[in-house]
Amino acid sequence: MIKLLIIGPTGSMGRLISRLALEDEEIKVVAACDINNIGNELALLLGIKSSNQIKIEDVNNLQEIIERTRPDVAIDFTIADATERNCIICVKSNIRCVIGTTALSRAFIEEFTLLVNEKKTPAVISSNMATGVNVFFEVAAQLAKYLADWDIEIVEAHHHRKVDSPSGTALTVGKAISEAIGVDIDSVAKYGRDKGPNKREIGARKEIGIHAIRAGDIVGDHLVLYAGNGERIELKHQVHSQNCLASGAITAVKFLAKAKDVKVYSMKEVLGL
Ligand SMILES: NC(=O)c1ccc[n+]([C@@H]2O[C@H](COP(=O)([O-])OP(=O)(O)OC[C@H]3O[C@@H](n4cnc5c(N)ncnc54)[C@H](O)[C@@H]3O)[C@@H](O)[C@H]2O)c1
Repeated sequence: MIKLLIIGPTGSMGRLISRLALEDEEIKVVAACDINNIGNELALLLGIKSSNQIKIEDVNNLQEIIERTRPDVAIDFTIADATERNCIICVKSNIRCVIGTTALSRAFIEEFTLLVNEKKTPAVISSNMATGVNVFFEVAAQLAKYLADWDIEIVEAHHHRKVDSPSGTALTVGKAISEAIGVDIDSVAKYGRDKGPNKREIGARKEIGIHAIRAGDIVGDHLVLYAGNGERIELKHQVHSQNCLASGAITAVKFLAKAKDVKVYSMKEVLGL
């Protein structure tokens, strides 16, 4: 039985993950903590019946919660600042972390990776836990190898509540493409291309354009456009519901509970792609 700590169980991803975790026979949710809904019973909040009557606790008491409940794995889908603080506490306490939060800082990734090695406590970090999107990363990179001299642009669309832009998935596909064609994403990424009225910017100039749309309740669309002379290919991935992301996160929890190598795993490794 995997003892699971859920950080951020009241968010839209947190609720889906909590529901799957409470219903999973291989997982026991030993703690759930957030800044909202403290003191409420998790299953009641989700509107499901469960023999697990765990209550949501205050994330500010995370260290004490860990010591009392001794989870094997923590899962965190919250906001970058909170994840950076809370997952450092977890890894220092030898709790394996599955991190789905996006827009994490480079400084955090570096510090966290050092702690993973120092504490011999593996982790999973992925900006998108859906199976299809991870196949999309692979195919996008493969296509880029064939079409390295074409213009490549990435367009993503998400619901209007999303706080970060561009999406972590757009950045990941950009990185996969740039690695495939042997360029550094930081030197070729061009965000937006929007110069405002009357200012001109001509041509793609061997950049990879990355564009974000925020509208309505779009769950998550990513398009890679490869445009050559007189023809183009569009590779598109669309998420219809967040269920695919939540079930991928549970797959990552089960993988990580058994993982032998001390490292930060990607979802590609979790899925064996
Ligand atoms: N990796 C993936 O597959 C994937 C999929 C969807 C969303 N995401 C990312 O997951 C994150 C959450 O997305 P969401 O749509 O569920 O957001 P949301 O706004 O619905 O939920 C955020 C949750 O974080 C909680 N929270 C805020 N501050 C906190 C703190 N200090 N400590 C603990 N909890 C805190 C909130 O109360 C809430 O429960 C975002 O970064 C999003 O980009 C990743």
